[in-house]
Amino acid sequence: MKNILVTGGAGFIGSNFINHILAKRDDYFIVNLDKLTYAGNLENLKQSENNKNYRFIRGDIMNSELVNYIFESYNIKYVINFAAESHVDRSILGSQIFYITNVIGTNVLLETALKFKIEKFLQISTDEVYGSLGAEGLFTESTPLSPNSPYSSSKAAADMMALAFYHTYGLPVVITRCSNNYGPYQFPEKLIPLMVINSLNNKKLPVYGDGLNVRDWIYVIDHNKAAELVLEKGKIGEVYNIGASNEMSNIEITKLILKRLGRSEDLIQYVNDRPGHDRRYAIDSTKIRTELGWKPEFYFEEAIAKTIDWYIENKSWWESIINGEYRNYYKTQYKL
Ligand code: NAD
Ligand code: TYD
Repeated sequence: MKNILVTGGAGFIGSNFINHILAKRDDYFIVNLDKLTYAGNLENLKQSENNKNYRFIRGDIMNSELVNYIFESYNIKYVINFAAESHVDRSILGSQIFYITNVIGTNVLLETALKFKIEKFLQISTDEVYGSLGAEGLFTESTPLSPNSPYSSSKAAADMMALAFYHTYGLPVVITRCSNNYGPYQFPEKLIPLMVINSLNNKKLPVYGDGLNVRDWIYVIDHNKAAELVLEKGKIGEVYNIGASNEMSNIEITKLILKRLGRSEDLIQYVNDRPGHDRRYAIDSTKIRTELGWKPEFYFEEAIAKTIDWYIENKSWWESIINGEYRNYYKTQYKL
């Protein structure tokens, strides 16, 4: 049995990871530690909640006593750290919690992992630590870190710290840096779910700036399969970029969503640009492809269609979020 602590497993990517692993493997025992911030939702884990190889613990990765208790009681040998404040727009509105959770919280996990002599610590990072690209070029693992938002700077700090624990103490750390994910259970304020939900509700679609910022989109299961592989076979002390080589501008994504939903492009509303808005992200994932044999399995056209359909079919999931306590934030942020 591999006893794994998954942090942030009630969020978008972490819940997809747990559901994916528990559906196909019985050699993993997963303890999910999640604070259940606005972004955490146990509904995402309905299919896994009764699995004998799964435990949920509500708590903060900052809580060193609790983290120690979990390592000891469950004989944790592997950690996958998904837990984070993850939304760039929120980091612009208030940065402090990003540094607390993403930097100090990760420090608590690293310190505890060291104490309990674990076998591998996978730090889930992001391509945003590399900053912004111009029209040409791709991020490789040796691209210098140059983060521009409070969110990406906190993730870059966590990466540096994780690598320092490897170099200084020999902690078996690996880092993945993935591009923008899409799929089921993504929180409704991120680009794709927001545009789908607003279209379904015949509300305006707020496109920042000129809409020509580019993101490199990957289906969440492709990311999770890569994370699973890196956990098992990734070389310690290394960084692996993950991406599906699927660059799209925001306006292209927005129009594609409107088309699939049969809505008019009149719903598009250009709004003020995000401060410090990174222009383009694009990943070179040659390393994980050649060294570990990973490749994305989902075609964008099919997976985005499946994702849009998921939001159509799971209206109650997002309605309970946007009509809950989240409502105030959602309304003021977009003024729509
Ligand atoms: P998310 O915001 O949907 O989920 C984050 C989860 O962490 C939530 O369940 C939340 O409750 C939990 N959490 C927050 N603070 C916590 C704390 N102090 N203690 C315990 N739990 C806490 O984020 P996501 O999109 O699923 O991203 C997961 C990870 O992947 C993050 O580390 C993010 O930086 C990284 N990442 C995300 C993307 C993307 O496109 N979403 C791309 C690359 C990397
Ligand atoms: P987002 O989903 O917030 O992810 P990230 O900032 O981590 O890339 O945003 C994706 C892109 O979409 C980004 O360029 C900002 C843009 N965007 C809009 O144009 N309008 C919106 O309402 C949102 C949420 C994002």
